[in-house]
Amino acid sequence: MNADKVRIFRAPGRVNLIGEHTDYNDGFVMPAALDFSTWVKISSLEEHRLQIFSENFDEEIEVELDDQNLVARDHWSDYPVGVALVLERAGHPLRGARLQIRGEVPIGSGLSSSAAIEVATVCALVANSDLKIDSRELALLCQRAENEFVGARVGIMDQFISLFGQASKAVLLDCRSLEFRLLPLPANIRLVICNTMVKHALASSAYNERRAQCEGGVAYMAKFLPNVTALRDVTIKQLEEHASGLDEVVYRRCRHVITENTRVLSAGDALERGDLDRFGELMGESHRSLRDDYEVSSEELDLMVEIGKKIEGVYGARMTGGGFGGCTVNLVADSHVNEFRERVSREYERATKLRPEIYVCTAANGAEEIF
Ligand code: GLA
Repeated sequence: MNADKVRIFRAPGRVNLIGEHTDYNDGFVMPAALDFSTWVKISSLEEHRLQIFSENFDEEIEVELDDQNLVARDHWSDYPVGVALVLERAGHPLRGARLQIRGEVPIGSGLSSSAAIEVATVCALVANSDLKIDSRELALLCQRAENEFVGARVGIMDQFISLFGQASKAVLLDCRSLEFRLLPLPANIRLVICNTMVKHALASSAYNERRAQCEGGVAYMAKFLPNVTALRDVTIKQLEEHASGLDEVVYRRCRHVITENTRVLSAGDALERGDLDRFGELMGESHRSLRDDYEVSSEELDLMVEIGKKIEGVYGARMTGGGFGGCTVNLVADSHVNEFRERVSREYERATKLRPEIYVCTAANGAEEIF
């Protein structure tokens, strides 16, 4: 072991173009990695311990990797510590290490700052411990850290795209098989992300509640349809046939997921044909379904979408990520980006007194070692 060697890893946040709250229903999603990242600098320690310093919070924590009593504290360090514990518990012995973390993904904005820190940490710990684990497994381990240690029952989308993202491409991921298709994003299009500046708390009960409602729907329908193990397996016709036995809210949650899966597949075909108008329409339908059936939008997100979609050069606009605040994603012709930025800022601020942040992005590469 070379105690002096320092290595640096980077993992990006993401924006989801379409396919929201479908990943934990074994469905389809279409995210792209962003050019916002989290960096982890790592070097080995002799002791079986992690020293983790966050530049963003200007704070250092220390944990013994053999400590059986570590629990989440609702603290930034829950993510890297959770990843380390999950690795060890899965039988991947870690070397002690010092980690220095710097993140530029806006926190709590639906752009997956949590997946970025998890994935950058997992890449750093694995390399520093001379382990070989394939990237799909790494994504699953990070998801497990968030599910079991942090306590947010998130799906696989964010961790997966943070590892598998590719420049200029959206990724159509089947969250059941983890097979994916790369879809080219036209060069004259920008992914413009508008931050409502209202933060969400993903670990909050509303996300886990949605997940439980979907599971309730599946449990009911599986009584009649034995091959159904997730909403992925249910058609809209089957849902309608069993609607009378379902709680009205659960019915609408299921309807969102089932129709959203269909929209993702149609959006994939539209992108392959270069049909951005159709893609944009599907984004609009997705937003309405998230607002009315899944009820994870917010007044600010709805307003931001309304402002964005009427501006010239905008193909589509919708909320992105878990919801309850955070960001919208807009597909905008690059010739109209400046006008878009000005109008959204002005109109949103006028209506809410909040000054939005607007990020003009292109799809970027997934996690990598920097040097
Ligand atoms: C969060 C979760 C994802 C996914 C989205 C909603 O980003 O981390 O797994 O469920 O919400 O699509």
